[in-house]
Amino acid sequence: MGEVRGTHDDAGVRDLVDPFGRTIRDLRISVTDRCNFRCTYCMPAEGMQWLPKSEVLSFEELEHVARLCVQRYGVDGIRLTGGEPTVRAHLPVLVAKLAALTVPADSASPLAGRPIDLALTTNGATLTNCVDELKAAGLGRVNISLDTLDRTKFEAMTRRDELVRVLEGIDAAIAAGFSSVKINAVVERGVNDDEILDLANFGRAKGVEVRFIEFMPLDAEGHWVNDKVVSQDEIVERIAAVHPLESVPARGAAPADRWRYLDGAGTVGVIPSVTKPFCGDCDRVRVTADGQFRTCLFATTEFDLRSVLRSGLPGRELDDAVAEVIERAVGTKWAGHQINQVNFVRPKRTMSQIGG
Ligand code: GTP
Ligand code: 5AD
Ligand code: SF4
Repeated sequence: MGEVRGTHDDAGVRDLVDPFGRTIRDLRISVTDRCNFRCTYCMPAEGMQWLPKSEVLSFEELEHVARLCVQRYGVDGIRLTGGEPTVRAHLPVLVAKLAALTVPADSASPLAGRPIDLALTTNGATLTNCVDELKAAGLGRVNISLDTLDRTKFEAMTRRDELVRVLEGIDAAIAAGFSSVKINAVVERGVNDDEILDLANFGRAKGVEVRFIEFMPLDAEGHWVNDKVVSQDEIVERIAAVHPLESVPARGAAPADRWRYLDGAGTVGVIPSVTKPFCGDCDRVRVTADGQFRTCLFATTEFDLRSVLRSGLPGRELDDAVAEVIERAVGTKWAGHQINQVNFVRPKRTMSQIGG
């Protein structure tokens, strides 16, 4: 196991650096394993066993972990995921708690002294009901999944006839005035790759960035095969053949490579997890809905934060115990996933149980 550098000192924040020299800045919190969709690339049609409520971290527990990561380690971005995060009751209450967190002024983060970057990844189907409340609670950015513009295909891909609701949700998110709204489209060959251009045009017309996502082996039914992956090169080629593009450099730790439309109609992205893994710059850690700390989407080991959070330790001792687990976990963060190599092991959890 590698070592995490430095020790905590009451005097200030310090970076959480993994054994490969990557500084952790981004915490992805799954607030529920439940979902109102059953996307084929993520969940089985039936038979998901939901976590009992007692096993899911409370808002207080989530806030505790988030506060510690921000204040002790200078984590500057938090993304709420699911399952579908908006099916968790009273989500705006959690958003308000997290939106109040400020990156310590003495952090090396570019957001030092400023509020954290608080974002949500959602399937969009419930947004018309809750988006204004989420915005008012302090949510900064929203990414919405949309894999197809065809109602029949949408129903086949998500196993729900909700395309219209999602399109309304996207409009509601745009109208709510977030600092950014993006669209995530998982591309699966033979399923929706014929719509790459239509989806790109949708983003251009709405003024939002569409990010095409290479299909990853995290589906519940194990139907992923490499032939179903449409590569970043192919996606970009198909769009650029119609709308000339130029690369936007400096992606930093973000998963998406981005391009600018030369005619000024905005940007488009591709998340090339399979053909061009971006693990070398990864700054992410994750907490699952049941309080397991993961250092990679594809991690096969988890670290139990929940039992520490519920140990009954008093204030500072509890913080130190939680921090110890986090540092131990980050000390095991591996260089990157092994998709398409002989030693690749699928994680036991599906995407919906990890949080995407
Ligand atoms: P931005 O901050 O807006 O760039 O968000 P994001 O792209 O980090 O978050 P989002 O939840 O929208 O993720 C989009 C896609 O990127 C999802 O399919 C994620 O699973 C994938 N993704 C996010 N983090 C990782 C990662 O660490 N590794 C891999 N391989 N994919 C990731
Ligand atoms: N491969 C790639 N992306 C996936 N997502 C869910 N399952 C997969 C998969 N197997 C994406 C969703 C959403 C985010 C939470 O993860 O489309 O954008
Ligand atoms: Fe639900 Fe998201 Fe998984 Fe689709 S990808 S089933 S919307 S958690």
